[in-house]
This record gives sequence, C-alpha cells and structure tokens, in this order.
Amino acid sequence: MEILRTIDEVRRTCNALKRGDRTLGLVPTMGALHVGHLSLVRAAKASCDAVAATIFVNPTQFGPNEDFAAYPRTFEQDCAMLEREGVDVLFAPAREEMYPAGAETFVDIPMVGGRLDGASRPGHFRGVATVVAKLFNIFQPTCAFFGQKDAAQVAVLRTMVRDLNFDVEMVVCPTVREVDGLAMSSRNRYLSAEEREQALVLERALRRVERVVAEGERDSDRLRGELRRELEDAAGVRLDYAEIVDARSLEPVSDVGDGVLVAVAAWVGKTRLIDNVVIGAEDAR
Ligand code: PAF
Repeated sequence: MEILRTIDEVRRTCNALKRGDRTLGLVPTMGALHVGHLSLVRAAKASCDAVAATIFVNPTQFGPNEDFAAYPRTFEQDCAMLEREGVDVLFAPAREEMYPAGAETFVDIPMVGGRLDGASRPGHFRGVATVVAKLFNIFQPTCAFFGQKDAAQVAVLRTMVRDLNFDVEMVVCPTVREVDGLAMSSRNRYLSAEEREQALVLERALRRVERVVAEGERDSDRLRGELRRELEDAAGVRLDYAEIVDARSLEPVSDVGDGVLVAVAAWVGKTRLIDNVVIGAEDAR
C-alpha cells in the first residue's frame, strides 16, 4: 500500500490506477478504524479494480467545543488494517495540504445539511461536504463508500453529488454492529464500561420502533413519542434528537412506510452517539 501525503502524488497515482478504464473506489475516513470501516473497504474491493482510502481528521467539521483535539488517532494500527485488506493507496494529508492559508471556499447545503446532526452541530455538514468535495476532485473516483450509520451525512452528500454534478457513484453500506447491537463508531472507545452498557438503549429503542411498525403502527408522532420516551427514561443518557424522516430530504414524515429513516442521537456521558434504522430494510448485525 502506498502512503501519500500530497495532492499531486494522489493525482499522479490515481491517473495510473485508472488507466484503461479501470474503476477506482474511494473510502474516505477520519481513521481510528473499526470493522465498520473495513466493511466499506471490502465492498470497494469487491466492486472496483483499485481501492483508495483516506485518513484525515477534518477540522472544518468539528465545532469549537467538540472533540477535534481528542479524536482518536491510531495511524499505525489503521495502516496495518488497510494494508491487510489490500488497499492500494492511502492518502493521509497534513491540515495545510487540504486547507492551505487563504482557502475560503466551502460547500454549503443549508436545507438537508441543517437537519438532524446539522441542527445539533451547526456547520458540521458544511465541513463534511467541503472535504468530501475536495476528495472527489482530487481522486475522481468511480464510486465512493460511506456507512449507513451516518445516514444524515449520506443524505447531505447525495444532495451535493446531485447538485454539483459529481460523476461519482455513492455506495452506502449497512451499519455494522457489535454482537450486543451497539453500532460501531470510532467514538465508542470514549465510553466507560458503564456507559457502554447504557449506550445499548439507542439500538433497543430503534428495534422497538421497528417492531411496533411491523405490528401495524404507522403514525409517526406516536412512534416518535415512544422513541423519545425510551431514550429520555434511560439512565445516563441525554437525548439530542429522535426523528422519523424521509431518508433523502431528512424532513419529518407523518406516515411511516418502507424506506423511512428512524434516527437518534444521544449523549452518553460526554460522548455523543448516533444510530438509525431504515424501515423495511435489512440491517447488518
Ligand atoms: O464519516 C466520516 O468519517 C467523515 O465525516 C468523512 C466522510 C471522512 C469526512 O471527513
């Protein structure tokens, strides 16, 4: 696996990798890799001729009081994991390579990007969209792979790809869960043993909504109420949002049918976790 630090090197290497109509899959990450990330790499390996990954803890997607400085950085371990998966190229730029002095252009997606996590974390999706747009321009991949766990991010990036005419196919891979149901996340490593237990309520609440929908309930206000109650009553957990929305626009829906996104975010201690299910869809466990 080649580890590249500059945009020029990436352009040269990707041009060679894509020669003769070969396809390139891109897996953008912030590192601190877990099996969820590896599932994206495996999906990319299965469908593309060459695979590139990126590790960049993107400062523009963190708010001033968020965990940018504390975000786990496990570069050596991450490299070993990507190497084992057969990734061809890893791009791990310095901050100045991605945001040189004077950089002032951002990609803003005010409506979709202002809902769910975008409402709780103002500016977050502006940072995500900007860095992903830059990575799409740098790599010009055939396909890019993202996790369903970040459902709002997926909706924002799909909107960006549509509106800015990126010639990139978005591939969304199922959420990967620990055996007890907790969605895998780099931030899970912040949790104490007690918080790790308390965090299970997110998945429990989502599964309960799925069950109630399967029993015939379609009224999203009632379902939202149940979801909120379960999370609000849970010890050690502070609800951020519990919403039932259209998966593309992230706008609240009144009737729940297949394809509707049930999404939650909650603080467990000092750690903010998110999870979701799509009604009627298979979810990897
Ligand atoms: O999902 C993530 O890890 C990040 O938001 C991403 C897409 C790599 C952009 O920094």
